Amino acid sequence: MQKTFKRILVTAALPYANGHIHLGHLAGCYIPADIYVRYQRLKRHDVLFISGSDEHGVAITISAEKEKTSPQTIVDKYHEANKAAFARFGIQFDNYSRTSLPVHHETSKEFFLDLLNKGFLNAKEEEQFYDAEAKMFLPDRYVEGTCPNCRYDKARGDQCDNCGKYYDQLELKNPKSLISGKTPVVKKTKHWFFKLGDFQKKLEQYVAGHSDDWKDNVLQQTRSWLKEGLQERAVTRDLSWGIPVPVEGAEGKVIYVWFDAVLGYISSTKEWALRIGQPEKWKEYWCDQGTRYIAFLGKDNIVFHTIVFPAELMAKGGYILPDNVPANEFLNLEGGKFSKSRNNAIYVKDILERYPADILRYTLATNLPETKDSDFYWKDFQAKNNNELADIYGNFVNRTITFAAKNFGNSVPHRGVLNDRDKELIGYINSAPQQIGNLIEQFRFRDATMEMMNLARAANKYFNDSEPWKTFKSNPDQCATTLNICLNIVRSLSIVFLPVVPFSSEKVWKMLNETPTVGKELWENAGELKLPSGHTLGQSEILFTKIEDSVIEQELQQLGHASDGNTATGAEQTTYTPLKPQITYDDFAKVDLRVAKILVAEAVPKSKKLIKLQIDLGFEKRQIVAGIAEKVMPDQLIGKTIIVVANLAPAKLMGVESQGMLLATAGDGENFALLTLSKDVQQGIGIK
Ligand code: MF3
Ligand code: ZN
Repeated sequence: MQKTFKRILVTAALPYANGHIHLGHLAGCYIPADIYVRYQRLKRHDVLFISGSDEHGVAITISAEKEKTSPQTIVDKYHEANKAAFARFGIQFDNYSRTSLPVHHETSKEFFLDLLNKGFLNAKEEEQFYDAEAKMFLPDRYVEGTCPNCRYDKARGDQCDNCGKYYDQLELKNPKSLISGKTPVVKKTKHWFFKLGDFQKKLEQYVAGHSDDWKDNVLQQTRSWLKEGLQERAVTRDLSWGIPVPVEGAEGKVIYVWFDAVLGYISSTKEWALRIGQPEKWKEYWCDQGTRYIAFLGKDNIVFHTIVFPAELMAKGGYILPDNVPANEFLNLEGGKFSKSRNNAIYVKDILERYPADILRYTLATNLPETKDSDFYWKDFQAKNNNELADIYGNFVNRTITFAAKNFGNSVPHRGVLNDRDKELIGYINSAPQQIGNLIEQFRFRDATMEMMNLARAANKYFNDSEPWKTFKSNPDQCATTLNICLNIVRSLSIVFLPVVPFSSEKVWKMLNETPTVGKELWENAGELKLPSGHTLGQSEILFTKIEDSVIEQELQQLGHASDGNTATGAEQTTYTPLKPQITYDDFAKVDLRVAKILVAEAVPKSKKLIKLQIDLGFEKRQIVAGIAEKVMPDQLIGKTIIVVANLAPAKLMGVESQGMLLATAGDGENFALLTLSKDVQQGIGIK
C-alpha cells in the first residue's frame, strides 16, 4: 500500500544513554535508516531524520549504580559519546535529541494528561515487590529470581532472558532485590494503567492495512500480541529518575520509560524546528497526512512501535502513524551474542580508531540481519574490504583515473562510435539506479548493496575486456571512448554507492574534480553519462587500502581475550568473588545428583539454544533439555557420561518436557565442558 506523500519522516530508535553504541546497534537500525535517508535525499525528497538518547528508566539508574555515580552523569557522558560516534560514522541525523530536555518532559506530560482526561488511563492499586531495607518498590529490573517457566535462575522481574517468557513480577520464584540482596516483601502501590484494550479494534485494522508491506518478523510479533488480546499496562513506576507523574498525590512516581521514549521522536522534531527558527514546523511531519513515516528499530522494540506508540498517538488524536516499521533481527559476533555485559562487543568509537567508517558501513550493509540473525566475522570484514571494496570498486576507480591522467592529459576524452560492449554496459548503467532504488524502497538494503557492487564488477570487467592499454596504440578512438565511459561510470558509482559508503563518494568526487551540486536530482541521473569530454580531472588517490592478515589476527585475539574476562562465569578472577550467596551443607544436600549416560542428543527445532537429550539413569530413561546448542554439537554429546540434577521439578522449555538438568561449565568456547567422571561407573549412582 504505497500512498503518495509530500515528505518523509524517518526515526531511528533512541538508544539508552547508558553505554557506548556497538556494531549490533548499527546493524539493527542505524545503518539501514541512514542508507534509506541518504537515498531519499539524493532523490530530493523532503526527508527528516530524527533520533536521540533515551535517558530515563531503570537501564540508566542501574548503570549509575554500577559506575557508582549519578544517573545525570551517566546520561551526560553517553549522550555526548554516542552523538559523536554516530557523526563520525556518517549517520546524518537532522536532530539527535535527549529525553531529559524540558521540551520532551513537556511533551510527555501533555500526552499523559490528555490520555488521563480522556479516560484512557486507569489509576489502581497493585501489589508489587518492596525492598524493606532500601525502602523502595522494586522495578522489574531490580528483582531477579527463578523463571516460573524454565527455572533459569537469573530471570529478570518481567522477562526471562533464557526462554523469553514475559510474566508478572509476582510470579517470579525466589525473588531477590538487586539493591539489598534480600527477599522483597509484597506491598500495595498506586499506578496508572494505559487501557490498550480500547484500541484493540483500531490497531487490528491498522495492522491489517499493512499486511503486504510490513516485514514478516514485524507482522508476526505484532499479530501475536493482538491475538492474545491487549491488556492494560502500567505506564508509571515508583522511581526517582524520569518524568514526574504530573498528578497530585503521585510523589515519587515517574512516567514509565517506554511511554515517554517513543514520544521522544516528537520532541526531537520539536527541538529541530526550534533550532531552525520555525517552531511550528514539526507539525508538518507529525500531523499532516501527506507525511510518510518510517520507524527503524531492532527486533526487541517492535511491539512498542506497532502497538504501544500507535495507541498513544490514536488516543491523543491528530497524529499520523508509522507507515512502516522495518525492524531488523540481531547481529551476532563471531558466532556468539553481542553482549555489553560480557564484554563481547565491538564499540563504534573503538573501531573507528582503527578503520575508516566506510568499510564497516559496507560490511554491515551486505550482512544486515534483515530476515534472520546474522554474524559479524572479522575475516569476512577483511574479505569484503580486500576483495570487494579494494579489488573491485577501488581498483576500477583508480585504474580509470590513473589511465586518464597518464594517457589523456588528466581530462575526459571524447566518446566516439559505440561498439556492442559499450552499449551493453551503458544499458546496464542506465537501468541500475532505478533497480537499486526499488530494493532500497523495499528495505532490502543487503540486496541493494550487492547490486551496487555488481555494477562496479561489471565496470571492472568492461575495463579488462576493452583492453584500453592495447587500443591506445591500435585504435585510439576506441580507447578514448572506453575511457570516457569508464570515467562516467566512476561518477555513476560514486552516486549509487553514496548511501552505503558516503565518505568514499566524496573522495571520488575530488578525483573527478566534480562536486555534485545539491538541487540536481542526483539519483535520477546517476545512470546517465554526464561528464562532458574535456572536463579536467583531479588527483587520483587510493580509495580502499587492503587489510593484512596480521591485523585481523590481532582483532581476533583481542576478542578472545575480552571474552575470557567474562566475570559472569567466574573466569580469570584473581580473588574469589562469589557468584552466588553462601549456602549451608543442608542447602547443598537437597540436590540429588546422579550419574547418567547420554543415549540420544538432538537440536530442538526452531531453538538456537536448546538440545534435547535422552539419558539413561540405569533405573530409568529420561528426557532432559539443556541450553547448550550454541556451545556444542549434539553429536559430540552422544555416549558421554554426565552428571544430572535428578530431583529438579519437571519443566517445559519451548514446549519440550525436561526432567532434570545436566551440569556443565558456564564458559563458552574453550571454557565450555561437561561435568563428567574420571572413570566409568554404574549409571544412577548418586554423588555427594
Ligand atoms: N532505548 C531503547 C533501547 O535501547 C529503545 C527506545 S526506542 C524509542 O532498547 F522508541 F523509545 F525511541
Ligand atoms: Zn525462562
